[in-house]
Amino acid sequence: MSDNRTKLQYLDAMGIQVWRRRHLPVATADSETQLEPVTSVGTPTREVDFDVASMDWQELATAVSGCRRCNLHSTRTQTVFGVGSQRARWVFVGEAPGADEDRQGEPFVGRAGQLLNAMLFALGLAREEVYIANVLKCRPPENRDPRPEEVEQCEPYLIRQIELIQPAIIVALGRHAVHSLLKTDQALGKLRGTRHDYHGIPLIATYHPAYLLRSPGEKAKAWDDLKLARSIVAVS
Ligand code: URA
Repeated sequence: MSDNRTKLQYLDAMGIQVWRRRHLPVATADSETQLEPVTSVGTPTREVDFDVASMDWQELATAVSGCRRCNLHSTRTQTVFGVGSQRARWVFVGEAPGADEDRQGEPFVGRAGQLLNAMLFALGLAREEVYIANVLKCRPPENRDPRPEEVEQCEPYLIRQIELIQPAIIVALGRHAVHSLLKTDQALGKLRGTRHDYHGIPLIATYHPAYLLRSPGEKAKAWDDLKLARSIVAVS
């Protein structure tokens, strides 16, 4: 972590007592091996209709920064590509940049991002060692929900990012992320709490940090999801 606060100070500052109370040491193969069976929903796709599939990181970043494949290019300040380690074991996928992200060009830097940082910290992970990206690389005006045509145009970038990283786990933050990745419209409440498969990569769906800010009573469930993800990484 880049700051010097202790873990408890950090968690206190974020108001996530539930994670402090329930915090466990980093999982080992023995401590958390109650792996759920893989659940099959939808049919995740990775076919892309333009040349993204063969791009390297540099080409991909260049393509995203100049992208005009949907109308969001006309209202964005800048694109928000993704951040973190290209060799990450953990990939976190959110929905779309908000105002802060649009301004700074980095995903999850606003209030939801601070909570995501605290979630990572509770897992024993630094932001720099995971990879964080969104389904959409441009901010929808007024933070409205992503439209299907925007997801369709933008998701090849995310698909390629995941393909290049080949992580041990994908954590889908919120319904838009999991719906896009797994091509399902099942309720998040049904999708969370169990292990899914994204082209051979385990995927866990959980609540979006912005939702947890509004509904702190759900943090315990989110923490359960993160522990499940950690148990999967521990044995991979
Ligand atoms: N919400 C998201 O889904 N992504 C961000 O980058 C910020 C907020």
